[in-house]
Amino acid sequence: MIRLYLPLALSLILFSAGPSALAQPPENQDLFTKGKYLATAADCGACHTSPHSGAPMAGGYAIQSPMGSIYASNITPSRRDGIGDYSEEDFARAVRQGINKQGQHLYPAMPYTSYAKISDDDIHALYAYFMHGVQPVDIAAPQTHLPFPFNIRASMGIWNLLFASDQRFTPSADKSPQVNRGDYLVNALAHCDTCHTPRNALMGEQSDKALSGGSLGSWYAPNITPDPHAGIGDWSDAEIAQYLKTGHVRGKAQAAGPMAEAVEHSLQYLSDEDIQAIVAYLRQIPAVNNGSAIPRDRYGKPSDTEQSLRGQTAQVDPGWKVFSGSCANCHQPDGQGNSHYPSLFHNSATGADRPDNLVSTILYGVQRKVGDEAIAMPAFGPDADFTTRLSDQQIADVSNYVLKNYGNPQVSVTAAQVKTLREGGDTPLLARLTQPVVLVAVVVIVLIIVALVIFSRKRRPHVTTK
Ligand code: HEC
Ligand code: HEC
Ligand code: HEC
Repeated sequence: MIRLYLPLALSLILFSAGPSALAQPPENQDLFTKGKYLATAADCGACHTSPHSGAPMAGGYAIQSPMGSIYASNITPSRRDGIGDYSEEDFARAVRQGINKQGQHLYPAMPYTSYAKISDDDIHALYAYFMHGVQPVDIAAPQTHLPFPFNIRASMGIWNLLFASDQRFTPSADKSPQVNRGDYLVNALAHCDTCHTPRNALMGEQSDKALSGGSLGSWYAPNITPDPHAGIGDWSDAEIAQYLKTGHVRGKAQAAGPMAEAVEHSLQYLSDEDIQAIVAYLRQIPAVNNGSAIPRDRYGKPSDTEQSLRGQTAQVDPGWKVFSGSCANCHQPDGQGNSHYPSLFHNSATGADRPDNLVSTILYGVQRKVGDEAIAMPAFGPDADFTTRLSDQQIADVSNYVLKNYGNPQVSVTAAQVKTLREGGDTPLLARLTQPVVLVAVVVIVLIIVALVIFSRKRRPHVTTK
């Protein structure tokens, strides 16, 4: 009897332990290790793993787009609910062209516009990792339902024609291998461009202003070109590297919101060599100055206004009251911070020429786990408990107090702006176009643009598109 059951038991143990536990020939092991590193550098898990203890890569995370929530798919090798029946070719097409196995267009919330540049070798390693290194999970991800006309996935085909390119990365012969590696990391795998490059009204990236700052709704991904005033030209190589690895550079900047997620899930795990390559690449891209005269991390100084206003019963700044009650215990009454908490002057969130990241930090707080260390600032917005929650007016008041005393005094915030940021930021033109009349106009304009693109390509047959 026992002998009869032994093979069955063995195979059960093997299968229940999942595919990653199966003995793999050493060359496959190397391929998985490579695929896993690439999946981390490309941060697939940031969207495909639900943040609240979701199974790895099983999807379900709702990505807030101006048009509504887009749910990331289950990309575990489950045959029922995941990508278990994807061939390597299907996988490559989904990742690089944004087309799923059924031939439907994916929304560009999946960053295929950047992943298009991923090499065949790297796709091969990623595929091996997803098929054999990730546990299959039989749970269906929620369906995405966007309003008309965005529910017509084919419309993404037109968008792709205008704004996506299916070109692999080609190293520049006149650049060092290190800079080329950095280019590949920044623009293909780590898709820094999807956040840091500004977008036009139809949400296409403005490549002539690459990495010069982009709005993400509530948060703003700042200018990271080497411009000494508007960008990060005044940061040392070591400071940029430290920021990417830890999300914190004392007296300069901290990573909250989407940047904290990039650091936590992806950048902290990159090899020092790859971090250096990113830094080397960022150093030599064209500098873009979009107006700033003073670097955003140089504004402000300690201010003792908090103490001098204490005990005054006459009209005091309403922002002072909020600051004194909600902020000063950590950031200190003079805004200087201490070894645990950052200063509010010489801080890119308070010195920037727009208030988005200051307001969003107050609304959503800071959560970032790096190594074993968890960095946290409480949220004062919708997720805060009743006793600590601040209104739009209170957040505007405290922001103005912080800007005036510690940050960029030319910037100010209204309660209406806080409300907009609370609701996910300004809606781009594209998302406001649900009215049929406007839509017809847009379709006509798009067709004209498409015709022009085709026409100009015909006239210049030798021009290669980047
Ligand atoms: C910024 C968020 C984000 C990142 C990062 C991301 N994805 Fe996605 N992905 C999505 C979303 C959202 C969808 C679903 C889009 C839709 O429904 O149109 C998706 C869909 C997919 C699909 C299609 C599955 C199907 O059949 O529906 C595949 C395959 C996929 N992603 C693989 C990957 C891989 C591999 C990586 C890393 C190299 C990755 N994704 C990184 C957001 C992301
Ligand atoms: C998902 C969106 C997203 C991605 C991807 C992303 N960033 Fe960011 N980044 C942001 C946001 C938002 C901030 C502002 C964070 C804050 O102030 O709390 C930021 C801040 C920064 C800063 C600090 C700038 C300053 O003045 O404070 C640097 C440097 C930076 N990012 C570099 C990068 C690089 C390099 C990559 C790719 C390897 C990258 N980021 C990928 C959104 C992103
Ligand atoms: C319990 C302590 C605590 C309180 C209270 C607190 N903060 Fe913070 N704050 C932090 C921590 C921790 C960080 C992040 C440090 C890091 O990233 O290394 C932070 C970061 C910040 C940043 C930089 C964020 C960025 O993205 O660069 C700003 C601005 C800020 N806080 C403003 C405020 C204001 C305004 C208040 C009051 C409404 C406040 N804080 C209340 C602890 C606190």
